[in-house]
Amino acid sequence: MYATIIYIMGKLEDIVSLCKRRGFIFPGSDVYGGMAGTWDYGPLGVMLKRKVMQSWWNFWVDQRDDMYGIDAAIIMNPKTWRASGHVDTFNDPLVECKACHNRFRADHLGDFGEGVTTEEFIKADIKCPNCGKKDWDEIKKFNMMFETHVGAVSDDTSIAYLRPETAQGIFTNFKNVVDTIYPDLPFGLCQQGKAFRNEISPRDFVFRSREFEQMEIEYFVNPKEWEQNFDKLLASCHAFLEETMGLPVDKIHDLEVPAEDRAHYSKRTIDIEFDYPIGCEELMGIAYRTDFDLGNIDRESGKSMVYRDKNTGESFIPHVIEPSFGVERLLMAVLTSAYWEDGDRVVLRLPENLAPYRFCVSPLLKNKPELVKKAQEVYHQLKDKYTFVTWDDSGNIGKRYKKQDEIGTPKCVVVDFDTLEDDTVTVRDRDTTEQVRIKIAEL
Ligand code: GAP
Repeated sequence: MYATIIYIMGKLEDIVSLCKRRGFIFPGSDVYGGMAGTWDYGPLGVMLKRKVMQSWWNFWVDQRDDMYGIDAAIIMNPKTWRASGHVDTFNDPLVECKACHNRFRADHLGDFGEGVTTEEFIKADIKCPNCGKKDWDEIKKFNMMFETHVGAVSDDTSIAYLRPETAQGIFTNFKNVVDTIYPDLPFGLCQQGKAFRNEISPRDFVFRSREFEQMEIEYFVNPKEWEQNFDKLLASCHAFLEETMGLPVDKIHDLEVPAEDRAHYSKRTIDIEFDYPIGCEELMGIAYRTDFDLGNIDRESGKSMVYRDKNTGESFIPHVIEPSFGVERLLMAVLTSAYWEDGDRVVLRLPENLAPYRFCVSPLLKNKPELVKKAQEVYHQLKDKYTFVTWDDSGNIGKRYKKQDEIGTPKCVVVDFDTLEDDTVTVRDRDTTEQVRIKIAEL
């Protein structure tokens, strides 16, 4: 058991180190000593993240007839967050050690639910992870929304929040969409974008960050049909994770969230969990939000959210099924599944559709102009066709293979002296290291 933990913990460190070494993900504000819970994406990381997000958009919006995109503002009227319940209930249990004054999320210090009480906590006899004492203050509710002030005056009337979920920008536009493009139920609105949560203890690389990205779908249904729509969307979530993202099926698990652990708006939630190096943890969730959000907007704004079904003549406030994906958790699952060590070879076995580059083109020797010229021709030919092609003439060929393996490039194409004679190149496979000779025209 101990050995397993060492191995698992080591693996996350290896991935973090690879991400930094190869320009995927850097700690935020690194030059100034960092900013806890924030991460910056480097050239390779941006490519990977964009491909993940683009694949999601393609799967859920472009390929379907019942989903539409939306891109709402991050800063919304604060009434949004009062109506949604976030001002009152978007809290984590905060506990402070009276000896060293470090603060922690109480439910993360033991086997507790989010609703852990001070009595339960004290009874569990928990040691402070910082100083080892057992002298705890009462558990307090800590609201996770980041506050800001809008406009030139900074007082209670100018308070606004950075959105803690992208979902509300969809709900507040429900009527705009219905009145402009007249979609038939059921239909979904999809949004990707930043979300912000003042996590008490951000941790585990990008898994729990203070600034992260969500990809959310609010799927509006007739209340009588919520169950079959929930099941269909759950199946589509699995298809996306397993087929488009290439995650191993045996590492993905559905958890039926018990009523006491569900968010305040949900009547049913399934968390889709993944076997990360840090353990089996939530990758994404799918929730039946009923008419909680549209109902609140209808009441608080005075604007009717009632939908009139022109096919059946029924009028009602639609109910909502919400598949909610976190980009960083998906990236972490993709990176974890792809990371592979073979002796001293480190390989990111990313699916071809996600790898930052599909090909790397090199001349065997950098100091032979005729090889460089030919390799440049091959490079441009492939780049015109596949876009995601890189050029590498640094170091020796062994070092180039090592670098391309670590950034997940599936194929390395090498131009050598034979190429000048017969127009063939060597193509080396990332996963097997096998090399084959192929005509340039057949690449
Ligand atoms: N609109 C529903 C909603 O926001 P959630 O379970 O709080 O539900 C959805 O968040 C997803 O967002 C999570 O499953 C996770 O993938 C991601 N997520 C939530 N908090 C996060 C954090 N602090 N850092 C990174 N990802 C996070």
